[in-house]
Formats: sequence, structure tokens, C-alpha cells
Amino acid sequence: MNQSDVLAALAQKEYVKNSFDLLTNIEKESGKKLTASVITFGCQMNARDSEKLAGILAASGFKLLEDTEDADFVLYNTCTVRDNANQKLYGHLGEALSRKKKNPSMLIGICGCLPQEPSALEKIKKSYSFVDLIFGTHNLYAFPEYLNRLLSGERHICEITDHADNIVEDLPIIRKYPFKSGVNIMFGCNNFCTYCIVPHVRGRERSRESADIFEEIRNLSANGVKEVMLLGQNVNSYGNGIEGEISFPELLKRVCEIDGIERVRFMTSHPKDLSEDLIRTIKENDKICRHLHLPLQSGSTKVLKEMNRRYTKEQYLDLALHIKDEIPDIALTTDIMVGFPGETAADVDDTIDVIKKVEYDNAFTFIYSKRMGTPAASREDQVPEALVKENFDRVLKCVQESAKKQSLRWQGQILPALVEETNASLEGYVTGRLSNNMIVHFPGTQDLIGTIVSVKLDECRGFYYMGSRA
Ligand code: SAH
Ligand code: SF4
Ligand code: F3S
Repeated sequence: MNQSDVLAALAQKEYVKNSFDLLTNIEKESGKKLTASVITFGCQMNARDSEKLAGILAASGFKLLEDTEDADFVLYNTCTVRDNANQKLYGHLGEALSRKKKNPSMLIGICGCLPQEPSALEKIKKSYSFVDLIFGTHNLYAFPEYLNRLLSGERHICEITDHADNIVEDLPIIRKYPFKSGVNIMFGCNNFCTYCIVPHVRGRERSRESADIFEEIRNLSANGVKEVMLLGQNVNSYGNGIEGEISFPELLKRVCEIDGIERVRFMTSHPKDLSEDLIRTIKENDKICRHLHLPLQSGSTKVLKEMNRRYTKEQYLDLALHIKDEIPDIALTTDIMVGFPGETAADVDDTIDVIKKVEYDNAFTFIYSKRMGTPAASREDQVPEALVKENFDRVLKCVQESAKKQSLRWQGQILPALVEETNASLEGYVTGRLSNNMIVHFPGTQDLIGTIVSVKLDECRGFYYMGSRA
């Protein structure tokens, strides 16, 4: 952290203390404990941000509620990567309004990616004027200050900035799981894929200093964390822009050396920057999980070029097959988009060809969604809905066949699983995650949660296994 970030962090801590006093007074007057909840949409980045928001709310004196919007303060941490993410928020806001009508002192906040997009921000201000607080991704660290203003009686606070210079460390955090945690290693994105809003709402790429990352992971480990997931939109370009900083493979190696850390994951790897060094590092370090998410988007070189992905079909195939050769027990997953402007049925055939050749263990498939301000949105050759639907179904069918076939390859093996929870629908069972990210259910009790145990994979049921302790 530089000097101004250190000062910013100190100032925010003062706001937290001050909010605590304000909240204590409000609670005395109202005679009840005030509750808060954070509702999270979107990716792992947002999930991690929500832990920070929850930490600040708890440190300010709120009682945190989980998975409910029946709180005195509801904060929506939003996503805008596709239009359905926006629609989802608007649905929740409609319901929030009816709650607020019954409980007029209820507070509603919106933060995250969606308000960073000017047209969505306008819509919220106009159509959902009952929202009390709006802020964006770049000033999340200033949430204590905004909360302080809310508790002082201010309403209609809207603080959005385009600057993303600060990386403020060391604010309170409440983690969802005691035994695993996300760790941001970088923020933002510089790639500007022509369909994507993320660089517009998350700003330019900024890496954290490795010393800060190690410090955070050492602390996590001291608090019982065994598995970390290193987070960034393109982890392979970690360290760019910081003089003398180590590379991503080196960062991985050193994270593996931290006492108490037994598993390391990372997300996401852009194929254009994936190095031989990274492949070797995964291969040589057992602690690095056998799972690589390698977004394809499209298998057509023409479409990839127009998407500004900076690899061809052949380059992607060479890379994916090479990784499988080098690390045969790795699970490869991907993101695929259907309906990018100008995409023809022949382009989709190319995508299907890649799926068949790579044989993914799983894939997220998305229908292209026009995002305001991105180059692809202004193209005139948007693909008719009916054709998109037809192509999407073809891709989905192929992905499902591949995933089904691939999941069978673990049948009968004995593998370590990190136990994450007791099984809600099967009495006497727990649910664990394998290094390759597959889920296994097996007989066990609550005390196993957070431990790594050997499990025999007895029966494949599509996308998960039923197993037994080995
Ligand atoms: N940084 C990651 C992706 C983050 S967004 C990467 O490049 O791999 C997650 C996924 O959402 C993307 O991989 C893409 O498949 C999908 N996506 C992004 N913008 C989209 C859009 N406009 N329409 C549909 N899907 C989109
Ligand atoms: Fe979006 Fe591309 Fe950046 Fe991923 S790499 S976040 S898809 S612009
Ligand atoms: Fe993530 Fe959605 Fe923002 S995918 S970066 S929460 S737009």
C-alpha cells in the first residue's frame, strides 16, 4: 500500500468506530437490534467483495443475516455482465420496495458493477428512487464512510467514480467459509473483449503487491483456511505494471509454501497469456488443484478475432491438448458464448468441433447479451433470436455429452476431498470437493467439515459422485 492508501484505510476505520456509536444510539431509541444482509450477484470477485462489505457492517454493529432480504439494511452487490443480471436486480428491487412500504425505516443500498454503467445508473435513479445508497466498484473501500452518512440520517447518497487508483488493504472481513477463501491478486481488466462490460465497470488492471498477498494468506492460514482461490480476470498477467514484481507461476509456488495451505486454486486464465511456466508449475506442485478454467468463448477464428480474444482456434486447441497431455488428471472447464454479432451456423460448428476435441469436464454456456458502450453492441449484424436459440441448443447438447463422458473417468478412484458442508437433503451425509472441482457426497458427520479426507468414488451420477470413506 502506498502512503495515501494507508491514510485512506485509517480514515475508514475511524468511520467504522463512529458508525458503531451512531448505531448504538439508534438501537437504544428504537429498542431493537438492527440487522443487515448483503445479497450477492455475479462472479467470485463480487463474492469476495461481499465478504468485505459484511465485515464492515458487522464491525459497525449490525447483526448480519444470511440469505434473507428481511433486514433493516439490505445491500445488493450487483453484476451487469449480461442483461439478465440487471433484470434480476430489478426484480429484487421491486420486492424490496414492498418491504420498505411496511417498514419505512428500512435502508436499501446498491453497489458493485451495475451502477458503474451509466445507463443502468440512470435507470436506478429514475425508476428506483427509494434506494438510499448507491456506490460502485472503485470506491468499495469507502463503504464505512457512506454507511456513516446513512446512519447520520443522510439519504439518496450516490457516489460513483471512474478512478480506480486505490488498493486499500486491511479492512474488516467476514468470510463465508472458515476453511476456504478467495484472495484477490489483481483487480480490473485490460483486455477489452469487444462484447464485455467488465473492463468498463471494473477499470484497468491493477495487481496487488505480492508481499500483501502473502501476508493476507498467512493470516488466513492462521485462522484455519486450508484452500485459497487466487482471483483476477486474467491471472496470467499478474504483476504487469509493478516493477520487479514476481510472475504468476512464481506467486503460485510461493503460496503453496505457506504453512497450513493445502490447496490452491485460481480463476481466470486467459488462453492468450497462459505460459509453459504455468503448466510446469501446476504439474510440479501437488497443492495446485487439478482444475483449469480456460474460457474459449468461440471456436471460430473469425469470431475470436472480432471478439478481440487474440488467439485462433488452432492456437487454443494446441494449448488445451498440450495441457491435457502434460497433466492428464486435470479437469478442463470453459466459458462459451453463442450469438456474437455476425456468428453463422458454420462458426458454431467450429465451436462444437473444439468442444469435441478438447472434451471439457464442464462448460458454462451463455447467450450473447448486448452491453451498452461495448463495440459489439453497435454492430448491425446482431444474430436473429431464433438462430441463436437453435445454435445454443446444439452447443449445450455437445457440452453436456462431453461433461457426462468426462465425469465418468474418475469412477472407482480414491481421491482427497475437502469436506464443505453436511448434506441438506441426505441425512448422515456430507459433501466434499475434489481437487478437480467435482463434488462427492458420502456418509459422514459435521465434525468432518473443513478437513481433507480420502474418498472412494463409487458411483457417478452425472455431474457428481456418491462415495465412501477410504
Ligand atoms: N475474465 C474472464 C471472464 C469474466 S466474465 C475471461 O476472460 O475468461 C465471465 C464470462 O461471461 C465470460 O467468459 C463470457 O463467456 C461471459 N460474458 C461476458 N460478457 C458477455 C456478454 N456480453 N454476453 C454474454 N456472455 C458474456
Ligand atoms: Fe471481459 Fe475479456 Fe476481460 Fe474476461 S478478459 S473480463 S471476457 S474483457
Ligand atoms: Fe463479476 Fe459481474 Fe462484475 S461477472 S466483475 S460481478 S459484471
